Amino acid sequence: MKIVETTNYQEMSEKAASFLINLVKEKPNATLGMATGGTPEGMYQLLIEDYKQNGTSYKEVTTFNLDEYIGLPKEDKNSYNSYMHQALFNFINIPESQIHLPNGMNADATKECEEYEKQISRNGGIDIQILGIGENGHIGFNEPGTSFDSKTHVITLTESTRIANSRYFNSLDEVPTKAVTMGISTIMQAKKIILLASGEKKADALYQLLHNEVDESFPASILQKHPNVTIIADRDALKNIS
Ligand code: F6R
Repeated sequence: MKIVETTNYQEMSEKAASFLINLVKEKPNATLGMATGGTPEGMYQLLIEDYKQNGTSYKEVTTFNLDEYIGLPKEDKNSYNSYMHQALFNFINIPESQIHLPNGMNADATKECEEYEKQISRNGGIDIQILGIGENGHIGFNEPGTSFDSKTHVITLTESTRIANSRYFNSLDEVPTKAVTMGISTIMQAKKIILLASGEKKADALYQLLHNEVDESFPASILQKHPNVTIIADRDALKNIS
């Protein structure tokens, strides 16, 4: 596992954006695995700036997002579909048909999961998967205890995840209780993984990611077994790592 330490959030975002921009230049039809949440927002902003200034093209790029809430229409401002369009997709030249997020409104959620998994396979897999990390070690929405063999599936969000994400909603009650998420084995099949972390509140999770036994009680520990992981994290997030 490679660790890139940055001085702050901005530098973390710059390094991550460079990785993606270089990949898209080398492989214009790359498949990118996207994450939502606070951590990648700066990186997405920099991709937009690069697109405006340098014209890096996303015409042939395909994306698959990690997860989506169940029960929020894609137009809802808190859906991850809305997040991605507002954070990135509305501002670059990626065709809508090449953007994939699970449909959290599909009445048959099991079928939705199977179809999402098939779409990723048919597409030839993910070249670079961007990940954040939950304070409880979740990656995607794979909460502690999720099987390492899991494919895209429905998950019940833990109270701590709902509380962490309630900052985007009017109240905790509005935060959905379930989501569709790529599974751990789906994530592990990505050719390269970049995990981003910023701030002291992620320091304990990063320590456990690197030093825990590989165990389903701390989902991110599985990354120790992936052949090509780069952690890009700022000093605060890495403060427990010597
Ligand atoms: C988001 C996702 C989550 C977040 C994690 C960290 O698509 O799958 O695993 O990456 O909850 O969220 P932030 O970045 O808001 O701290």
